[in-house]
Amino acid sequence: MARILVLNGPNLNLLGSREPGQYGHRSLEEIMEELMRFAGACGHDLYHIQENSEGTLVEAVHKAAVEGVEYIIINPAAYTHTSIAIRDALLGVRIPFVEVHLSAISAREPFRQFSYFSDIAMGVISGFQGESYMLALQAIINQIEPQ
Ligand code: DQA
Repeated sequence: MARILVLNGPNLNLLGSREPGQYGHRSLEEIMEELMRFAGACGHDLYHIQENSEGTLVEAVHKAAVEGVEYIIINPAAYTHTSIAIRDALLGVRIPFVEVHLSAISAREPFRQFSYFSDIAMGVISGFQGESYMLALQAIINQIEPQ
């Protein structure tokens, strides 16, 4: 059994109503419930946190290490493109993580095409709206239990 944390950054609490063309029609709760169910059915323990501020996200990463989290799925949202602090926190705790985006950030505005996380992530999944999270979880489970 692995302990997995899903960490969501600013404005992702607005999913469902926020720019549905980019981010889809499902709420964060719906997406996270599906993920928790799937992880549980595979024998893993998954929980999620959504925070709007950078410092709180840094603290959530620190706490994850103390609580024995083994993998993180993170959508840093707008902090993807700005946050050395969250990058350093992930490097500091050495918890492997998958970077997730609902939209295809490499096909959007130039300022969204750079990520402070991609070069240190296990992998990046982007552009499948809510399903991006499930694909990230499946990738992690495949690493834990290679077929
Ligand atoms: C996002 C992409 C970011 O550029 C944006 O600021 C977000 C969401 C995504 O999931 O597509 O808030 O991370």
